[in-house]
Amino acid sequence: MTKNVLVSGGAGYIGSHVTVELIQAGYNVIVADNLSNCDMTCFEGVKAITGKKDIPFIKIDCCDRDAVFRLFDEYRIDAVIHFAAFKAVGESVAEPIKYYRNNLDSFLNILEAGKNHGGCNILFSSSATVYGETDKLPVTEDSPRQSATSPYGNTKQICEDILRDVVSAAKSYGESMFPGTRKNGPVKGIALRYFNPIGAHPSALIGELPRGVPNNLVPYITQTAIGKRECLSIFGNDYPTPDGTCLRDYIDIVDLAKAHVAAVSRMLDGKMKKDYEIFNIGTGRPVSVYELVTAFEKVNGIKLNYKFAERRAGDVTAIWADPSLANRELKWAAERSIEDTLAAAWAWEKHLAE
Ligand code: WQD
Repeated sequence: MTKNVLVSGGAGYIGSHVTVELIQAGYNVIVADNLSNCDMTCFEGVKAITGKKDIPFIKIDCCDRDAVFRLFDEYRIDAVIHFAAFKAVGESVAEPIKYYRNNLDSFLNILEAGKNHGGCNILFSSSATVYGETDKLPVTEDSPRQSATSPYGNTKQICEDILRDVVSAAKSYGESMFPGTRKNGPVKGIALRYFNPIGAHPSALIGELPRGVPNNLVPYITQTAIGKRECLSIFGNDYPTPDGTCLRDYIDIVDLAKAHVAAVSRMLDGKMKKDYEIFNIGTGRPVSVYELVTAFEKVNGIKLNYKFAERRAGDVTAIWADPSLANRELKWAAERSIEDTLAAAWAWEKHLAE
């Protein structure tokens, strides 16, 4: 029987790319989103790319526990990929309650509904931000987590821990105490720690749609190139790195999406080695901000208006992944070159301007 995968936050940047890959791999996908940080542009793009016009779209706020339970009553859900969360680091510092309430409540509701409907497989979208600043690079999944530097980062750490604890407790869930009522069942979990997701689908039909002034590097670059922003500021060129700018592990969004298909298949095919697993999803290749900017200029034949500016508060000097566990266990590896990724990011920005 074809497996049903619920993608919460499925209309967003990462969720829409993952939905495409899941459908192309033969899964039934149910998209749930409250459209708080996106519109239907990417969902429409997903339908165009896959040719599937009848993907169920449920407009729901995952903080609404009853609504989440109703969703699980209505559909047999074999696995959930949980993206629905706020993700702006700076805003989380200004509005911690909003971040803790949204990111924790929504995840708890999904977990509780999955557990109460006979058990579930849960994939959580975590982040390399859990590693913080570290000298030992690249980071492996065993590298210690540092205290989070923002409420956003803290919600990622807390949700990882919640998932670990729910998985552990759910092992002992047996039959329902009340026959005929909902049945508790085992929960299995995977946390994927993303490094820096960038780029867009090669079709240019889905991509990142930041609201207002972008916080992240690549949307700022593409918006500067198209003339929406005047000048890119490169935050800091006095870091102890080869060219003085920060080093990151930029992972192509389609490669990242494919890692989710590999992880979901591992859960659904009973291939997990432990009931809760963590994988780094990165390329293993550090790229500096300056290198990224010059690669963008070269591959797209554009002269970008940029200047060097003060360091941005809270930035770590360097972080990149050791992705060998994911390479081995998920049989997944990042494939696209940084040039292809930056060409796709530019094609998407131009598509938005059409
Ligand atoms: C990358 C590099 C900046 C903008 C953040 C979150 C992380 C994850 C991904 C997701 C840094 C530099 C940036 C600009 C610049 N979260 N930069 N000028 O900070 O590595 O990671 O996004 O939801 O949790 O912390 O990504 O793209 O903001 O920055 O020079 O205008 O680009 O200083 O070195 P970051 P980023």
